[in-house]
Amino acid sequence: AGPCDIYASGGTPCIAAHSTTRALYSSFSGSLYQVKRGSDNTTLNIGPLSAGGVANAGAQDSFCASTTCLITIIYDQSGRNNHLTQAPGGAFRGPEANGYDNLASAIGAPVTLNGQKAYGVFVSPGTGYRNNAVSGSAKGDQAEGMYAVLDGTHYNGGCCFDYGNAETSSTDTGNGHMEAIYFGDNTVWGSGSGSGPWLMADLENGLFSGANPKNNPADPSISARFFTAAVKGTANLWALRGADATSTGGSLTTYYSGARPSVSGYNPMSKEGAIILGIGGDNSIGAQGTFYEGVMTTGYPSDATENAVQANIAAARYAVTSLVSGPALSIGSKVSLRATTSCCTTRYIAHSGGTVNTQVVTSSSAAALRQQATWTVRAGLGYSGCVSFESVDTPGSFIRHYNFDLQVAANDGSKQFREDATFCPQTGLGSAGGGSSFRAWGYPTRYIRHYNNLGEIASNGGVHVFDSPSLFNDDVTFVVGAGFA
Ligand code: AHR
Ligand code: AHR
Repeated sequence: AGPCDIYASGGTPCIAAHSTTRALYSSFSGSLYQVKRGSDNTTLNIGPLSAGGVANAGAQDSFCASTTCLITIIYDQSGRNNHLTQAPGGAFRGPEANGYDNLASAIGAPVTLNGQKAYGVFVSPGTGYRNNAVSGSAKGDQAEGMYAVLDGTHYNGGCCFDYGNAETSSTDTGNGHMEAIYFGDNTVWGSGSGSGPWLMADLENGLFSGANPKNNPADPSISARFFTAAVKGTANLWALRGADATSTGGSLTTYYSGARPSVSGYNPMSKEGAIILGIGGDNSIGAQGTFYEGVMTTGYPSDATENAVQANIAAARYAVTSLVSGPALSIGSKVSLRATTSCCTTRYIAHSGGTVNTQVVTSSSAAALRQQATWTVRAGLGYSGCVSFESVDTPGSFIRHYNFDLQVAANDGSKQFREDATFCPQTGLGSAGGGSSFRAWGYPTRYIRHYNNLGEIASNGGVHVFDSPSLFNDDVTFVVGAGFA
């Protein structure tokens, strides 16, 4: 059985089932998600390898070879057509043209399920999916349940990495107009014990960990790499439950179960029934997180039903896999990074003060320039499976992105710095073949690119001038060689 077969047996069927990693019904063999590639803007639907099975990641890998791919649609497996697509602007505009949110990279969140590769949905700030015309979702004070499997190590304090029920207008229409899973370490509203991240419920104008709108010490900080988050709500009753998604004990821990928050506007609820992923109800786009699978139900699922779903998730055996490909970069080595675009094959990534650029460098260049174009490879400061580049002439300073420009800056030790300084090497996208492309860990649609001889993190066809699709693949491909200094 799949999670939605279990919810149906419990009398609380799924009205939406979203996953890029696997079928959530044992008989489901339709499309799980759609990807669009940068080379020709064509799309491909990805289904499971067999009915009820894991997504056919190999089909995606073939289709996306030597180009970039975005996740354009996360299909609803329930038969109700409650698909998630690129979120439109709401009270807050998204970063794409016409105020739409960004789409997720198709390769930002690789995992394995029972040893088979699949891809989750890596949400960077600015990324969001939504459906404002859902069939069968809870409205007003009606009962519903939901769960999601998330990456417990990918989060931030921005508003709001959510999956669940939200406003149909993409605007904040008042307390109680949402009921969604929230995951992160935002403390503007509620919090749990420790420093987070926490599972909370986004009920609009508040992230709630319990009845007290400020804090529930029974809501723990989460450290599991794969985390099952569950929220459910009915008339003056709601619950927060969670577990390590790989734990085979077959139960969720209840962090809260009881009355609605003790502030006005949440009893009764005024749910509107849209579904959001990665954003707040009003299209707040500050948050990050990773989503693998999730469902919305009608009716208030029993704890026993949710525990059976957790056992099913554990049996799917989510596990980590490598984020890198292509030529290996050895940690501790000193390297140079040569551009491969035909304009620029004598230019190397270098820096002038805080600015990252490309410069023509040879072994007979002045010592200062040779140092400026040489980088020490370090284990990724934000994710050790990727890399960071430490400046040879300014030890302790690293290449990072800021507002999508590359800079060399001193490591201030913050989580933001460490993530912004982390890049995942992959087989070069360039037309010549070979080389490496460096994906920004936190923005996997974006790669280190030289554009007008300046360093940026660029997406293949975005709103910035440096996102131009012209020469994109070559501009993001570098040959890693010996350092000059
Ligand atoms: O409730 C927290 C957030 O507040 C909601 O997601 C958003 O709509 C509002 O800004
Ligand atoms: O470069 C994009 C973002 O810009 C970085 O993650 C952040 O540090 C800055 O706001």
